[in-house]
Amino acid sequence: MYADEAVPTGDEDPMSAVFSQRCADDPQPVYHDLHDRCPVARAPGMFGGYSVTLSRYDDVLWALKHPEVFSSKDVVKIGNDVPLIPLSVDPPDHAKYRRLLDPQFSPKRMADLEPEARLLVNEIIDEFAANGACDFHEDFATPLPSTIFLALMGLPQDDLPQFLAWRDDTIRPQGDTIEEMEQKREAAGKAIEAYFQGKIEEKRAHPDDRLLSTLVHGEVEGRPLTHAELLGTTHLLLLGGLDTVTATLDCMIVFLAQHPERRRALVDDGSLVAGAVEELLRHQTPVMMVPRIVAQDFEIGGVQLRAGDGATLLIGAANCDRAEFEDASDVRFDRESNRHLAFGGGPHRCLGSHLARLELTVALEEFHRRVPDYELAPETTISFSPGIRQSENLHLRFAVES
Ligand code: HEM
Repeated sequence: MYADEAVPTGDEDPMSAVFSQRCADDPQPVYHDLHDRCPVARAPGMFGGYSVTLSRYDDVLWALKHPEVFSSKDVVKIGNDVPLIPLSVDPPDHAKYRRLLDPQFSPKRMADLEPEARLLVNEIIDEFAANGACDFHEDFATPLPSTIFLALMGLPQDDLPQFLAWRDDTIRPQGDTIEEMEQKREAAGKAIEAYFQGKIEEKRAHPDDRLLSTLVHGEVEGRPLTHAELLGTTHLLLLGGLDTVTATLDCMIVFLAQHPERRRALVDDGSLVAGAVEELLRHQTPVMMVPRIVAQDFEIGGVQLRAGDGATLLIGAANCDRAEFEDASDVRFDRESNRHLAFGGGPHRCLGSHLARLELTVALEEFHRRVPDYELAPETTISFSPGIRQSENLHLRFAVES
């Protein structure tokens, strides 16, 4: 079966549906519709060629685990001149980079950061606690992961505003036309690489015990990383480290503000927080999808894919597949089996997942200890960005601490 037969006639193209504002704001109805009517879709792509969309849990997990069919090679192009490492590299080469990077993000190393993270969360809350109001996205969800990331890398905190501007121009460039947005993205990419070029030279001359210096002086297969490899790695770390945790915190707090009884449960019983982090990662899936390219002709779910097709693995849709998760639309903090794919799966599974979990857990614990009763301010209209679901202007109001 080929393209036209894989998309029910007269229906909205699955990629348009998935990238719509309606889906970013409330993804599950779109995901369930795809499960029911078109779990493997193949249609002409927005930029030529064909585009494949997978939404079932089993198919998405299979695709994540089979890079020889669903390749990541050079698939992410967001203003980077050099391939993003390790995201844009397929096995077996991919493993050599993870061997260098994994120990830097190990559970033990991340657990050691906990006291510092807890202190930082409280310092951030101190800034607005007496006001009875905050813009959660701006005042909390943005500074928390960004400050930790710069400290981990060994980069000056003063550079944060510049990093955030580059992040926004890369992930959500503003512009009236696609060309304008692409130009913003490319300019940000060039600026990021120029910045790291300078910092890499600094760390080469003056090593320290932080991540950037470790990479500059580290080795893969008995040789130092090339300049292009260092730039590709640092560029990706910046994008991964700054945006995803912010988006996840936004998603979690919106849900908890809109469901006061679930928030109350967390306030009353802190032991629920770890389960809540996993369940809200599943239910909200802030990174909605990951891109791939079909590397060889292949049939999946009765649909024939062709080498060169673009592919979108809808991890958000996989995470609400009723065939994998009982009562998938319900949020259960005590869900027993929760093999969610919010961090991806297979060889490219998120490098920063232990850091993210630490930040999210400490954030939910401390925020609910200090600010147990909050609600969305009346002027707030929640709207999530498509692709990576973050919500700007997330105004909360709350009772001031006694
Ligand atoms: C809740 C927060 C986060 C979420 C939801 C998330 C999600 C993901 C997902 C879905 C992937 C898989 C991409 C793919 O298969 O194409 C991924 C990969 C990756 N993430 Fe995260 N991420 C988070 C936090 C972080 C943080 C804090 C860092 C770094 C400091 C990070 C660094 C990376 C890197 C380097 C990769 C590529 C791994 C590889 O290709 O081997 N992530 N992440």
